[in-house]
Amino acid sequence: MPDKPTVLITGAAQRVGLHCAQRFAADGYRVLITCRQPRPQWQQQPLDGIEVLLADFSSVDGIEQLIDTLRNRGIRLRALIHNASEWLNDEHEAEALQAMFMVHMQAPYLLNLASEQLFDADGVGDIIHISDHVAQRGSARHIAYSASKAGMEALSRSFAARLAPRIKVNSIAPALIMFNDGDPQDYREKALAKSALGIEPGPEVVYQSIRYLMDNPYVTGTCLDLNGGRNLK
Ligand SMILES: NC(=O)c1ccc[n+]([C@@H]2O[C@H](COP(=O)([O-])OP(=O)(O)OC[C@H]3O[C@@H](n4cnc5c(N)ncnc54)[C@H](OP(=O)(O)O)[C@@H]3O)[C@@H](O)[C@H]2O)c1
Repeated sequence: MPDKPTVLITGAAQRVGLHCAQRFAADGYRVLITCRQPRPQWQQQPLDGIEVLLADFSSVDGIEQLIDTLRNRGIRLRALIHNASEWLNDEHEAEALQAMFMVHMQAPYLLNLASEQLFDADGVGDIIHISDHVAQRGSARHIAYSASKAGMEALSRSFAARLAPRIKVNSIAPALIMFNDGDPQDYREKALAKSALGIEPGPEVVYQSIRYLMDNPYVTGTCLDLNGGRNLK
C-alpha cells in the first residue's frame, strides 16, 4: 500500500489549525502538527491520527530545530501549512513586532528555504500561508500584526516564483473565522456587521480553501480572500 501523503500544519494544537489537522486525518493524510506546549487533555485523550512536534518559533534556533527534526526523520511533505500566529497589540511596540516577525515571517522563510529537502521530489507539493484580511488594507490598531502578515504574503509570492513548478505556493487571507471564547457580545456584533455575509463561518471554510489550493494544479502565487464580503462594506 502506498504511503499516506504527509501534511505539516504549524501552530495547530487548537482552533483553526486543529480543525484542519483533524479533517486531513479523516481524509486519509498523515498529519504532523507543531505547538509550543502539549495540551494537558491529550494525556487522557490523545489526538487521533495526528503526530505532535514541539516547536517554538520565537528564536532562529527553535525554527532550525524543527527543520532538523523533519530532515533527520526523513519526512517528505505533500503540503506545508503556515498557520502559527501571534496577535499582539502595538502597546508592546518593539517586542510585538519582533515576536510577530519571527512567527509570521522568519519561520515560514526558513522552512520554505528548506523545502527542497522536505518535500517529496517526485510529486506535487503545496505551501500555504494563512495570512489575514488586514494584511492588504493595514490596520490602525494592529500595525505590527498587519505588517508582519503582509510580509508573509510577500514571501508567499517570492517562493511561488522560486519553487515553481514543483511546489505551488499560495496564501489565504481570512477575515473573521471564529471568535475567542471570552469575546463580549458587543464586540461580536460589531465584528459580524463588518462583512456583507455577516456570519461567523467557523474553521471548515479554511479547510475548504486549503483543499481548493492543493487540488487545483493551475494556481500559484495568489492570495485567496476568505472574508464573507468584508471588502464590500
Ligand atoms: N480565528 C480567526 O477568526 C482568524 C481571522 C483571520 C486570520 N486568522 C489566521 O488564521 C490562523 C489560525 O487562527 P486561529 O485563531 O486558530 O489561531 P490561534 O488560535 O491564535 O492559534 C495560533 C497558534 O500559533 C501558535 N504560535 C503562536 N506563537 C508561536 C510561536 N512563537 N512559535 C510557535 N507557535 C506559535 C500557538 O500555538 P501554541 O500556543 O500551541 O504553541 C497557537 O495555538 C492564524 O494564522 C490567524 O492569524 C484567523
